[in-house]
Amino acid sequence: MLTANEIRDSFVKFFESKGHQIVPSAPMVIKDDPTLMFTNAGMNQFKDIILGNHPAKYKRVTDSQKCLRVSGKHNDLEEVGHDTYHHTMFEMLGNWSLGDYFKKEAIAMSYKFLTEELGIDPEKLSVTCFAGDADAPKDIEAFEAWKNAGIPEERIYFYGKEDNWWIAGEEGPCGPDTEMYLDTGKPACSENCQPSCNCGKYVEIWNNVFMEYYKSKDGIKKLEQKNVDTGLGLERMAMLLQKVETPFDTELFKPVMEELEKLEKIDDIKSRRIVAEHLRSSIMIIADGGRPSNI
Ligand code: GLY
Repeated sequence: MLTANEIRDSFVKFFESKGHQIVPSAPMVIKDDPTLMFTNAGMNQFKDIILGNHPAKYKRVTDSQKCLRVSGKHNDLEEVGHDTYHHTMFEMLGNWSLGDYFKKEAIAMSYKFLTEELGIDPEKLSVTCFAGDADAPKDIEAFEAWKNAGIPEERIYFYGKEDNWWIAGEEGPCGPDTEMYLDTGKPACSENCQPSCNCGKYVEIWNNVFMEYYKSKDGIKKLEQKNVDTGLGLERMAMLLQKVETPFDTELFKPVMEELEKLEKIDDIKSRRIVAEHLRSSIMIIADGGRPSNI
């Protein structure tokens, strides 16, 4: 059984072996971007490179980015404790192509990491690709890459912008994404059960964003270079590989959950999960230089 530390290590070492430079997480508290208070995605620290404002020191990068999703477009604050797996703060494992490889190579590496390094049964994997619209065509390239990697057609789904398009905010670098789902073995909710239905049978484990566009209020245009931005949630992957019900049952939260159980005043599991999660986020924000105040 892999611990979260082992999953993180195996991720960055796998991508290092594929020519990626391991870089540290950026701080969660952002000081030089007036549009963002907290880092909400792995791409934040690479935004200027993606936009072509700065040359890339490394064209292939891998990291584990601390992310906080408490405001704006990506806000999971209200989900914490109410479902079992959302967090305000989570670690996002990522590999990056900053003007280097694109869909074919990214998908081949994702498949290899999941099936060979993590030992996930390929039969349990389904993937989704962008269905296409006026902004960008149907992602046949990603579809073909998944087929070549080993995913049969019947487990490749096409969805629209709602599911298979990624952007950090209302404006910025963006593009179609492909998402990987693990079949948890739970019963299907209907004959048409599929990754998009959120019934719990399929859990999203990783996305590959093919960031080749820029969206502004004037519309969408192509970026100078093609980029890949991937995001694999460490806590969720630990939960799935350890075959426990929630990330709160992994070693990342268990010691705190056990301490909270001793406090009579926090007598229900939902509240304990919220307190454990918010404690972790608060500590990490303070460690990164944020200071609580009444504002
Ligand atoms: N890889 C993009 C994101 O989910 O943040």
